[in-house]
Amino acid sequence: LIQTTAYEHGGNIDQVAKRFKLDLRAILDFSSNINPLGIPKPLQEMFLSNLDRLTRYPDPEYRTLRESIARYLNVPPSKIIPGNGASEIIFLLLSTLKPKNLLLCAPTFAEYENAAQAAAVNVRYLTLSEDNEYQLEMTKLIAILEKVDCILLCNPNNPTSTLVAPEELRGLLEQTKRKRVNVIIDESFIELTLAGNRNSMVPWLESYENLFIIRSFTKIFAIPGLRLGYGLGAPQYIEKMNRNKLPWSVNAMASIVGDYLFQSHPFFEKTSQWLVTEKSWLFEELQKIVSVKAFPPQSNFILVKIVSSQLTTTELQNKMAANGVLIRNAANFRSLNEQFFRVAVKDRVSNEHLIRLLRKELGE
Ligand SMILES: Cc1ncc(COP(=O)(O)O)c(C=O)c1O
Repeated sequence: LIQTTAYEHGGNIDQVAKRFKLDLRAILDFSSNINPLGIPKPLQEMFLSNLDRLTRYPDPEYRTLRESIARYLNVPPSKIIPGNGASEIIFLLLSTLKPKNLLLCAPTFAEYENAAQAAAVNVRYLTLSEDNEYQLEMTKLIAILEKVDCILLCNPNNPTSTLVAPEELRGLLEQTKRKRVNVIIDESFIELTLAGNRNSMVPWLESYENLFIIRSFTKIFAIPGLRLGYGLGAPQYIEKMNRNKLPWSVNAMASIVGDYLFQSHPFFEKTSQWLVTEKSWLFEELQKIVSVKAFPPQSNFILVKIVSSQLTTTELQNKMAANGVLIRNAANFRSLNEQFFRVAVKDRVSNEHLIRLLRKELGE
């Protein structure tokens, strides 16, 4: 059986394949939120034709990679630090900024809490309300500002798939600037929202030195195994983070992604066409299943609550897994419970399969 531990993430498909004696290639993984278009073809070719890079150390300053990201987002390279996934940046940021009191939303990505613990940072929680469909309530957030010196927001938020608009975040930055509170925004899924980079706060880095942004190539380019993310912030903090960082933590293969960015436009277009249709299709189909409630998604994943069934999420998860379909048990997210699960949006054929199996297992 699948047992969810406090540290379990989605996408642990090797373990599930072994446990249920399934063929790895036959598993439909809705538990990790990765672009179903897969690794862009030109990027795959670049990996294969650049194997010789593995015989050399990467540039410890990652100048070429930083310049590529700089051009991609129109920020100076001095504000960019590449990381071994967004995860390294999360840990590095908290251990460098060392806030006394950090505000996190609940539910949100669990690694923030782990990173806070590793950096001995005290955490306060702002519980997002189910009645409000987990939308961030800015007035509530602003009311807690006096009690913290740093806020870490996930935008769009994992696992709720809610998004705070840039205008609203601008207001927050004004308030926090005056109160000397740092704001970290994890935009790991930003390219997987309909407006993509137009939802990003990157353009505001110039105006707010208390703003830090975490980004990832993991989700958009379907490369969770490669490990590539980056942090953005004022140069003096980026320098500090560089001093705290393990040398060469981003491998030479990962840094090739920078070279691909210049030609990534058609892939972003294709991704956007898929997302706009499949996100609403899957959401609408989930809404038709009466024993669950699906929360409106702003990104490529959907939070779902079992509202009228005898099944717990773990039971449903196991029944689905026995049929080769993985869903993300969301019970281990702070403030959620054994009624919640999360599914990624995939291609139409896979999404149809998910809906059919959910209906069957829920007795509909
Ligand atoms: C919100 C969020 N941030 C960061 C990460 C980690 O990304 P990476 O694989 O780039 O370390 C995840 C992974 O699930 C995530 O959900």
